[in-house]
Amino acid sequence: MHLTKDEELLLQGERGDTLRRAMEILVALGDIYGAEQLIEIKSAQIAGVSYKTIGDAGLEWISDLDGKVAVPSILNPAGMDLLRWREMSIDEDFARKQLEIINAYRRLGVTIECTCTPYLLYESIASRGDHLAWSESSAVSYANSVIGAMTNREGGPSALAAALVGKTPLYGYHLEENRVPTHVIRVDADLKEYGALGFLVGKIVGDGVPLFVMRSRPDRDDLKALGAAMAASGSVALYYVKDVTQEPPEHDEDACEFVEIEEEEIRSVYDSTIDVDIVALGCPHCSMQELERIADLLEGRKVSSELWICTARRIAESAPELVRRIESTGARVICDTCMVVSPASERFKHMMVNSGKALAYIPGMCGISASFGSLEECIDAATGGS
Ligand code: F3S
Repeated sequence: MHLTKDEELLLQGERGDTLRRAMEILVALGDIYGAEQLIEIKSAQIAGVSYKTIGDAGLEWISDLDGKVAVPSILNPAGMDLLRWREMSIDEDFARKQLEIINAYRRLGVTIECTCTPYLLYESIASRGDHLAWSESSAVSYANSVIGAMTNREGGPSALAAALVGKTPLYGYHLEENRVPTHVIRVDADLKEYGALGFLVGKIVGDGVPLFVMRSRPDRDDLKALGAAMAASGSVALYYVKDVTQEPPEHDEDACEFVEIEEEEIRSVYDSTIDVDIVALGCPHCSMQELERIADLLEGRKVSSELWICTARRIAESAPELVRRIESTGARVICDTCMVVSPASERFKHMMVNSGKALAYIPGMCGISASFGSLEECIDAATGGS
């Protein structure tokens, strides 16, 4: 990979050990993927935050770094609500380690917002055509597909390295030629929700780039759910929806694989018949509009099983009345974390979700079973249909 003089100096450690280590990560990645150079990034979104997923080794690695990030950088969800962790039955030892991780990121100048939906908080964090180094798979999918920015799916260390240097290797989804569709997915269904569709399509296309042709018109929350599910059941980092998202670059449609999805297949993902002891919404983190919809659906009801609604702290704090309405039913609005990366999920037996991503990850990451329902079915399950 070609390096500028400045980049060479960073790699030789002329500006300290942290930048040297960060450059080593970027150069190693660039060499593996055949990048010709580094490119400047607009922002970083850094995974590897929950103590549950990175453990002591990760905590030690981050704590050892010294310096400041060069671009706006934000964190992925942590393993607990940073303020109300006791209400989640998180133990003291976990909480202490988790707060140490957060403080290590704070020292590096990373913004302490722990969310997979940074684009809902800061519009300026990513715009069309920007190069980014984002980690969390649903955020990556949203950035590439809905915003029209360009990012690979970074690991935690490579996103942090890119944040410190302000650059990332130029390969993968940073290059137009890798952004052409590989599959055309014709959806013969009237859809109200998109997580189940994403769950199915991710399994079919793997790491491909699907182009959807559908008669329903997904809004931004629907696209968030669709992309998150495909990134989890497959590893889709970019997709298109005809007449809804940006147009794909010029491509040979005959080279694409064609797939038809019918309503019945999508329905087969749903299963609201199982007894649940927890219902969790907000994967990816809820937008304000989703919180409003949940508050409306809960109006006049009381929850009979645990009901978590995960969102970014900044969103919850900007709508205290909405949070009060939701929590007056016995549900909890949980910030900074989610049902997948928090150990708090592990004490339950069966979780119901309205997210294709959570459906794919809960069994493996939390050791409990999961089923999928529409938002209405989830609210019914949590309130005993009251
Ligand atoms: Fe976000 Fe956690 Fe889902 S990080 S996309 S809420 S698994």
